[in-house]
Amino acid sequence: MKYPRLGVNIDHVATLRQQRGEFYPEVTRAAEVSLATGAHQITIHLREDRRHIQDRDVPETHNMCRKFKLPLNLEMGCSDEMVQIAILEKPEWVCLVPEKRAERTTEGGLDVLDPINYARVKAACETIKKMSPATKISLFVEATPQVLSKCLTVRADAVEIHTGEYAKDFLNKKDLSNHFKMYREGRSIIKAQGWGYHAGHGLTFESLEPLLAEKQFEEYNIGHWIMGEALFLGLGHVIKEMLTLMKKYPLEA
Ligand code: PXP
Repeated sequence: MKYPRLGVNIDHVATLRQQRGEFYPEVTRAAEVSLATGAHQITIHLREDRRHIQDRDVPETHNMCRKFKLPLNLEMGCSDEMVQIAILEKPEWVCLVPEKRAERTTEGGLDVLDPINYARVKAACETIKKMSPATKISLFVEATPQVLSKCLTVRADAVEIHTGEYAKDFLNKKDLSNHFKMYREGRSIIKAQGWGYHAGHGLTFESLEPLLAEKQFEEYNIGHWIMGEALFLGLGHVIKEMLTLMKKYPLEA
């Protein structure tokens, strides 16, 4: 049986650490607990302003992932600086995201329909693929047909669908059928090219379940909710519960 994968985003362990400028809580320890509990990959976002994950966290977290023979997924903007870091570190996955300095968190997908943004994304993919051919690339985008078709014209391997609006609508008990329809249509566009179909942003235990039941996405990257719950229940416990939920919804028999 094939199950969806869980990527645990550990950025907010670094948020807590950076808030005091201490050496704890350790990002690598969060990676270790997550992977030892069964998470399928670790996701970190090295932001331009270094508000949480720091440069040294990238190789240190990658080393921890290597110990478990599991992938590091490095989220980053498309700047030259980030591309250089990616080609030096050679993570198993890079997830390209839009980045605005003033935003609290990533606020939406890459606008690949804008020619300037598109050129930046395309160039970042070309350079990463040339300098680190084993690194796979996902593009964090909205699930509209135009955006997804445009994504397929660059050298990448997957899209990660921005689920932030879905998650908000779920919390506000709004009708979700439009989101599901878009995700289904999106999957057919992406799968026609054999790309990976991932999802992430804003998801909680409760809002994840209807998505799992839809069986559209192969991978979910979840961070903020997991870390919040971990304060009360412990990181390993929260991840274990999430993995148990995911096992209820195999992608294929
Ligand atoms: N995926 C991407 C591309 C993101 O930018 C983020 C937030 O850093 C996440 C997933 C995780 O979102 P959350 O922390 O809301 O679960």
